Amino acid sequence: MQTVAVQLGERSYPIQIAQAFPALLPEIAAAEQVVIVSNPTVAARYLPQVEALFQHPCRHYLVPDGEAYKTLATFEAVLCYLLEQKLSRQVVLVALGGGVIGDLTGFVAACYQRGVRFIQIPTTLLSQVDSSVGGKTAVNHPLGKNMIGAFKQPEQVLISTATLASLPPREFAAGMAEVIKYALISDLPFLDWLEQHADAISAQQPATLAEMIRHCCQMKADIVSRDETEQGERALLNLGHTFGHAIEAFLGYGEWLHGEAVAVGILMAHQLAHSRGYLQLAEVERVRNILQHFKLPVSAPASMHITDFLPFMKTDKKVVNGQLRFILPVALGRSQMLTDVSEAELIQVFN
Ligand code: NAD
Ligand code: GLY
Repeated sequence: MQTVAVQLGERSYPIQIAQAFPALLPEIAAAEQVVIVSNPTVAARYLPQVEALFQHPCRHYLVPDGEAYKTLATFEAVLCYLLEQKLSRQVVLVALGGGVIGDLTGFVAACYQRGVRFIQIPTTLLSQVDSSVGGKTAVNHPLGKNMIGAFKQPEQVLISTATLASLPPREFAAGMAEVIKYALISDLPFLDWLEQHADAISAQQPATLAEMIRHCCQMKADIVSRDETEQGERALLNLGHTFGHAIEAFLGYGEWLHGEAVAVGILMAHQLAHSRGYLQLAEVERVRNILQHFKLPVSAPASMHITDFLPFMKTDKKVVNGQLRFILPVALGRSQMLTDVSEAELIQVFN
C-alpha cells in the first residue's frame, strides 16, 4: 500500500492506494452511524466489500447513476434521507463511486447539520487521480457546472485500484484526460513517463496504474496543501476546464463525459498558446497524440461554434470583474493563469 498525505494542519488526511480496499482509520471504522452514498452501478459491485470495512452495520442510500443527477434535487433527497433516519452530527458519510458521487456526498457532508465527517472511496480513474482529493464539492446548475458547492475535506481517501477493472473503457479514457493534465500543468518528466508507459497504462498493468495514480495524488496533495481554497496555484488544475465546462453545459450534462470535454479543452488551450507563439506546432501535436493514444476526443462537438463557448465561459468561476481568466501553457509542461485573453482573440483562433 502507498500513502500520500494532504497536509492541512489539523485537517490533514491520508490518501491510501492499494490493489484491494485499504483499511479504514480506526476511528472511522468504529463509527456507529455510517451512511454509504453510492449509485446502483457501483453498489452492485462494491457495496458489500465496503460495508465489511466497518465494525457496525451501515446504512446506504443510492442515487440514480449519472452526471445529470448531480443536482440540487438529488442533494435535497440525500439530506431528506439523513433527516428521516434521524442521524446525528456524529454520522460519517461515505462517498462510494466516481466524481459525481464524491462531489454530491461531500456537499451533503458540508451542509448536513452545518457539517459532518465524510470519507471518499473513489472507484473511477478520474475520481482516484483528482476529484476525491482536495475537498471541492458541488452540484451543477443548468446555468453552470459545479456552481453550487463548498470546500469540505474528507478525512480519508481509500483507493482500490482493482475497482478500475470493471470501469467501462470510455470512463477509463476520461480519467486519463485528468492524468495528462497534471503533466501539462507543471511536470514535463511525467509526460515523458506517460508516453513511455502508454501501452502498460492502456493494458491496465497493476503496478503501472498504482504508480500513475500515486504520482497524480501526490501532485494534487502538494498543490492543495499550499492553496486549499484556490487563491492562486490551485487554479492551474483547471487547465482545459474553461473550454471543457462550456462543452458539457452546451451539450447538456452527461452527453459528453467530463474527462472527454477536458481533453478537448486541453488541446484548445495548447492551440491558443501556439497561436500566441508560446508553443511549437510539434508540441501541440505531441499533446494531441497522447490524448488520441488514450482514445480521447480532440475536437469540439461539430454542433458547437466558438461563439457557443462564450456565454458559458462568462459564468466560469475564474471570471473576475467580467474578465475571462484562462489557464494556458506558456511552455510545454508549464501552465499559468492569463487574464489577457479576449473574446475577439478566441473567435480569431477558433473560427
Ligand atoms: P461518474 O461519477 O459519473 O462515474 C462514471 C461512471 O462510471 C458512472 O456511470 C459510474 O456509475 C460508473 N462507475 C464508477 N465506478 C465504477 C467501477 N469501478 N466500475 C464500473 N462502473 C463504475 O464520473 P467521474 O468521471 O468519476 O466524475 C466526473 C465528475 O467529477 C464530474 O461531475 C466532475 O465535475 C467531477 N470532478 C470533480 C473534481 C473535484 O475536484 N471535486 C475534479 C474533477 C472532476
Ligand atoms: N479539479 C480541480 C481542483 O480540485 O482544484
